[in-house]
Amino acid sequence: MKTKDLLTVATQFGSPVYVYDANRIEAQYKRLTKAFKKVKHLKIHYAVKALSNISVLKILNNMGSAMDTVSIQEVRLALEAGVQPQDIIYTPNGVSLEEIERAVGLGVQINIDNLSILEQFGTKHPTIPVCIRINPHVMAGGNTNISVGHIDSKFGISIHQLPLVKRIVDNTGMKINGIHMHTGSDILDIDVFLYASEILFEAANHFVDLEFIDFGSGFKVPYKEGDVETNVEELGEKLSRRFNEFCKNYGRELTLAFEPGKFLVSEAGKFLVKVNVVKQTTSTVFAQVDSGFNHLIRPMLYGSQHEISNISNPSGKDRFYSVVGYICETDTFANNRRIAEISEGDILAFSNAGAYCFSMASNYNSRYRPAEVLWYNEKAHLIRKRETFDDIIRNQVPLELS
Ligand SMILES: Cc1ncc(COP(=O)(O)O)c(C=O)c1O
Repeated sequence: MKTKDLLTVATQFGSPVYVYDANRIEAQYKRLTKAFKKVKHLKIHYAVKALSNISVLKILNNMGSAMDTVSIQEVRLALEAGVQPQDIIYTPNGVSLEEIERAVGLGVQINIDNLSILEQFGTKHPTIPVCIRINPHVMAGGNTNISVGHIDSKFGISIHQLPLVKRIVDNTGMKINGIHMHTGSDILDIDVFLYASEILFEAANHFVDLEFIDFGSGFKVPYKEGDVETNVEELGEKLSRRFNEFCKNYGRELTLAFEPGKFLVSEAGKFLVKVNVVKQTTSTVFAQVDSGFNHLIRPMLYGSQHEISNISNPSGKDRFYSVVGYICETDTFANNRRIAEISEGDILAFSNAGAYCFSMASNYNSRYRPAEVLWYNEKAHLIRKRETFDDIIRNQVPLELS
C-alpha cells in the first residue's frame, strides 16, 4: 500500500482506523511455504488470536492456510469464515473439559496441554484422537510475557512427565495423533527452534499413531528497517531435512505443522491516528493522538517499538516527539521519537499493527474500538465498522432504582 492509499483510507473511513494489506499477508504465507517446500506434507495453521477478523481469515483460508485457535469463540470465527473443521486445531490453555467437548462437537482437532484433562478426556472419549502440547523447557522468546516454553511456564505438559502421559494413553486406550510445542514469540535464534525440535522428535518416538508434528510459532519479524528477524529460509532448509530424516526412521510421512500469527499479519497492518494536540512542555513535545492503549496496548504491555511516520507531511523536517494517547492514564506510544514535523490534524501511521493490536483492543474510557479496513484487489474494503454508543451500552442492564 502506498502512502496516498493510507491517506485515502483515513479520509474515507475516519480515524483511528486499522488497515491491512492482503498482498502482504499473501507474500508472507508464500514465503513460509516456500521455505519448507522440501517437506511433502506441510500445514500452516494461522494463529487466529493475532488478528481475528473473519475477512482476514477468509483471505488466509483461500490461500490454503489452516487455523490455530485458543478459544471456542475463535473456533466459531474460523468456521464462520468457511474453514473446514479438520483444518482447525484447538489449543486452549486452562479451559474446562466442557469447553473442549464443545470443540469436539464442532469437529476440530483437539490439542491438550495438561495431564488432568488428558486423563479425563481419554477416559470419556478414548476413540477421539488428540494432540498433546509438550513443554520442552526451552527458554525462548522476546520477553517474559511471551516466553512460554520454560520450566516455570503454565503451558504444556512437561517433557519430564512423558512417562505419565504414556501411562494415561495406555490405560485409556486413547490415540495420540499429534505432538506440539510452542516455546514463545519473537524467537530470533533458529538454533533455539532446532534444539527444541530435537526434544520434540525424541518425544514423538514414544507414540505410534502420529499423523503430525506441530512446531508452534514464534518467528520474529522486523519492526524497523535493518531490524533482525528469524531467518525462515535457513530454518526451512535445516528443519525440513531433519524432519524428513525423522519421518524415514519413524516409518511414516507425517505432516509438519506451524502456527504463525505475527509472521503472517504483523507487517501487513498499519494503524492510522490523527494528531489532536501538539503540546510543548518544559521537557518534551507531545503529539497527542485520537487513540490510546485501549486501541494499541503493545508498547505499554510489552515495550514494543512500533515505527511511527507522519504520512500527512512525509518529507517534513525531522523533530523529536513523544507520541501519547488520549486515555486518562499514561499511554505513551513512543518516547523522544524522530518524526517528520507534526501539525495538529496530521495523520500518523503506526507500523507492524497487524498482529495483537486490534485483537487486544478494549473499550477503556468508554471509547469506541476502531474500524478495520482491508486493502484487497487495489481497493479499500471496510471489514469492521467503528463502534458506536449502542455498542458501549448494548449489554448493560440499567438498575431500576427503588
Ligand atoms: C500456542 C500458540 N501458537 C501460536 C502462537 C503465535 O505466535 P506468533 O504470533 O509469535 O507467531 C501463539 C502466540 O501466543 C501461541 O500461544
